[in-house]
Amino acid sequence: MNTRSIRFQLISRFAALLLLVMLGFGAYTYWSVRGYVVDVIGISLIHRAQQITQTLLGNILPVDEQSISREIETSYAPELNDRFIRITRGDGSVLYCSREPNDRSFSPTKVPYARVKITAPQIREEPLPNEERMLIAAVPYSSQQGSYLVEAGASLSGSHRVLHALLWTLAAGLLVIMGLTIFGGWVLIKRALTPVRNIMLAAQDITLRHLRRRLPVPNTGDEIASLSVVLNQMIARLDDSFQNTNRFTADASHELRTPLTIMRGELEAIIARRDLSQEIRAALASLLEEVERLVRIVERLFALSRLDTGEAQIERIPVDLGRLAETTVEQMCLLAEEKHISLKCEMNERVEVEGDRARLKQVIVNLLDNAIKYTPDGGAIALSVRAQNGTAFLEVADTGPGILDAALPHVFERFYRADGVRSRDVDGAGLGLSIVQSICAAHGGSVSVKNNHPSGCCVTVGLPRA
Ligand SMILES: Nc1ncnc2c1ncn2[C@@H]1O[C@H](COP(=O)(O)OP(=O)(O)O)[C@@H](O)[C@H]1O
Ligand SMILES: [Mg+2]
Repeated sequence: MNTRSIRFQLISRFAALLLLVMLGFGAYTYWSVRGYVVDVIGISLIHRAQQITQTLLGNILPVDEQSISREIETSYAPELNDRFIRITRGDGSVLYCSREPNDRSFSPTKVPYARVKITAPQIREEPLPNEERMLIAAVPYSSQQGSYLVEAGASLSGSHRVLHALLWTLAAGLLVIMGLTIFGGWVLIKRALTPVRNIMLAAQDITLRHLRRRLPVPNTGDEIASLSVVLNQMIARLDDSFQNTNRFTADASHELRTPLTIMRGELEAIIARRDLSQEIRAALASLLEEVERLVRIVERLFALSRLDTGEAQIERIPVDLGRLAETTVEQMCLLAEEKHISLKCEMNERVEVEGDRARLKQVIVNLLDNAIKYTPDGGAIALSVRAQNGTAFLEVADTGPGILDAALPHVFERFYRADGVRSRDVDGAGLGLSIVQSICAAHGGSVSVKNNHPSGCCVTVGLPRA
């Protein structure tokens, strides 16, 4: 799972926020219900204690302590109601104390006494030895006969059980709501982001060769649709400038071809004359060499621009890539021999691709040409052809100096030549690899280059198999 994805970020933050809100809500609910329950019990206890003071202590004059006990038993039946009633005299001695209740939730003799003198009705919570708590309402009463404290209490165990149940219900609700929210959010955000993902995939696909294509614009009128429109406008501008550059290259190379061809023809004709001095012939020969170089550059540029605009007709016939590599190696081994470079061709199986034989040969020639050019005397070049799944791979590895890391990303750019190469006076114009790349792309393939360990570089061409 990508923890940096919008989906994960949104859901995790939302879930954290929801958890906080739910915990707050749960705590608030729990404490309010608890407060309410305690209040209700407290009020009924105070009421009872007041009743006792008014009806029993207040009416019976002089206070008949025997009859009070009887009266309480008959009027209030504290044991049956699981209630606690205690009347203490001013000196602290107990006048009456109810017996153990039916539910045995507390033992009346163990209920703590008030620690301070009570002068006005009040409610307090006392811990019981069995870890329960008791709510006790105490109402003082005084007459000429003496002062009394009437206490009415009830164990909170029953309400605690209810509150526990409430707590569990809240926790279960929290879990269910969190689960549903995370799942629902996951699904909803996934659906909301699907158009973004489609746009991303489509944009990835719109490479230099597919600039004519446009991104899908969802019919929703939302921000994503606007994003697609804006991106499409940007791609259109890119496409325009790319077309302009291409057209310029195509026009310029086309216009240059004719005069250069004429120049070359004229120069050849002049050199063929017998009445030229040695000196002039040498100068003309050098001139012809330069013109031929220019012609080569212009031809390459012309070929490149035609490939890029898609004007070049690419044949689609089955080509045995291994066989093509072998014959090309045979033709170029003389060049390698001149530099005492060993040139090996390696293949294990018949690998066929569908494409333009002449152009695929051009790819191999350009790669071998580079390898021979840049590998010093006595080096070695290995060309291999293999297939893996649906792709045919052609690899040219040499033992030359390799390519500087800084230059690696640029070698497929037009007219790019690594610095060292320019100064070393190696023939070339920096168009060879650009042509290789354009031909590969026109065949639906790709080319990459990397340095080999410990020396040399390796160019890999991948083409779809026939
Ligand atoms: N086999 C190689 N070894 C070292 N450098 C290479 C090799 N192939 C290509 N390069 C580098 O990549 C650059 C571009 O190659 P390319 O487009 O064929 O141009 P050119 O061969 O005309 O210089 C070269 O100038 C060179 O710096
Ligand atoms: Mg080259």
